[in-house]
Amino acid sequence: MSNTQDSLVPRPVRDSQSEMNEIVLPNDANPLGALLGGRLMHWIDLAGALAAHRHSRNYVVTASIDRLDFWTPAHVGDLVVLRSSVNRVFSTSMEVGVKVWVENYLADESRHVSSAYLTFVAIDAAGRHLKVAPVIPETQEQQRRYEDAGRRREIRKAELERRRSSTRSLHG
Ligand SMILES: CC(C)(COP(=O)(O)OP(=O)(O)OC[C@H]1O[C@@H](n2cnc3c(N)ncnc32)[C@H](O)[C@@H]1OP(=O)(O)O)[C@@H](O)C(=O)NCCC(=O)NCCS
Repeated sequence: MSNTQDSLVPRPVRDSQSEMNEIVLPNDANPLGALLGGRLMHWIDLAGALAAHRHSRNYVVTASIDRLDFWTPAHVGDLVVLRSSVNRVFSTSMEVGVKVWVENYLADESRHVSSAYLTFVAIDAAGRHLKVAPVIPETQEQQRRYEDAGRRREIRKAELERRRSSTRSLHG
């Protein structure tokens, strides 16, 4: 594991805060004009990677995406706004939260579509894992997300272990 000194300097959450905007076009939608879930998942992954890159200043790969719910549909012509930031850094991995809003500028309304938690692992050009600089929560909201991210990591690890052992028992 090798890092430059600069990439390990602790950074505030605000340094990773990112926003990505997309207009829903017909090619992003089903025949009824509603945004495809898979397209939104792709945008969520990209928005999450933006925050992870900004924080880690390295290449990253997506290790996992937690359960996703879509609470309200977006339609052709809507503006989809994705806001992301790093919630917490562990060692080589970091949890990023992405919150998705849909804005209809004709109706002048904005609705919360989805929220997602993704884990990214920092790697170098050869694919070796890299340590990631700590993240500094500065607001109460960021502190809450930081603490919640620790709890989610424990749940993720337990779930991963459960799935691994059920795969092992399936294959003898
Ligand atoms: C994700 C990946 C890097 C994990 O590497 P690994 O050698 O299996 O895992 P390790 O046990 O060494 O864990 C490395 C880190 O990833 C985390 N991690 C591994 N699997 C994870 C999962 N399913 N969910 C969340 N975090 C995970 C570990 O907790 C660890 O974090 P830490 O260093 O902060 O403690 C590896 O499985 C991989 O490259 N997967 C493919 C990624 C990919 O192609 N993504 C889509 C395209 S970007």
